[in-house]
Amino acid sequence: MKQVLTMNDAGGKNYYYKEAVKILRTNIQFTGKDIKSVLFTSCYPNEGKTDIVFQLAVEMGKAGKRVVIVDADIRKSGFIKRYALNEEIPGLSQFLSGQAEKKQIVCSTGYENTDIILSGPVAPNPSELLGQTIFSDLLHELREDYDYVLLDTPPVGSVVDAVVAAQACDGAVIVIESGLVSHKAAQKTLAQLRKSGCSILGAVLNKVDIKKDKYYFSYYKKYGDYYNTKQY
Ligand SMILES: Nc1ncnc2c1ncn2[C@@H]1O[C@H](COP(=O)(O)OP(=O)(O)OP(=O)(O)O)[C@@H](O)[C@H]1O
Ligand SMILES: [Mg+2]
Repeated sequence: MKQVLTMNDAGGKNYYYKEAVKILRTNIQFTGKDIKSVLFTSCYPNEGKTDIVFQLAVEMGKAGKRVVIVDADIRKSGFIKRYALNEEIPGLSQFLSGQAEKKQIVCSTGYENTDIILSGPVAPNPSELLGQTIFSDLLHELREDYDYVLLDTPPVGSVVDAVVAAQACDGAVIVIESGLVSHKAAQKTLAQLRKSGCSILGAVLNKVDIKKDKYYFSYYKKYGDYYNTKQY
């Protein structure tokens, strides 16, 4: 019996954010039937990865897809913090170090068709754990169990974990906070991720101020004045 977590929609995202997430869901579905495990990373901390992974998973679940979120940020889990979840819930770090079985780490989010594997307690060697075959074998099994496996990872600019995890994924998406990341920094992150051999699906430009974006503003102004997220 799966443990059911109480995860409320803590993001409180507006209409435009949610619409953009639906477009992201459609775009990912159109990348092809072999793209099932998708990793989300960014250049820097705080660009909005965890929110996007959660909202996207819930949106996919609502659309009838079976989804599992893998919280692969073993250093600083966004999910445990954001949803005030119990750090004692067995998670990825324990599974990868042989201290828990798969059936103990897969929990239900309470949202339809949407499960989650939390990061587990902070481990001293996350990149080594994520580089093991036990991690790629787990993703392989999850690909069979679910329609989509969405991975939340730390930023590429800080640690190597996302690049290591990407080696075991079908595709990667880079979340970029509007106005924060230079072209050079984005190119550097892209080059790092390419080393993993994982296919780069694209980028999500997050925290966009629509008032500064004339095209989007003229299109959306009849609905409101702020649009957070768009994709490339
Ligand atoms: N589109 C958005 N517009 C405004 N604020 C946002 C948006 N997306 C996320 N945020 C806010 O930005 C902060 C960081 O979000 P989140 O934790 O999802 O980022 P992260 O990239 O996962 O961070 P970390 O690198 O620490 O894991 C949160 O306070 C969140 O509410
Ligand atoms: Mg996060």
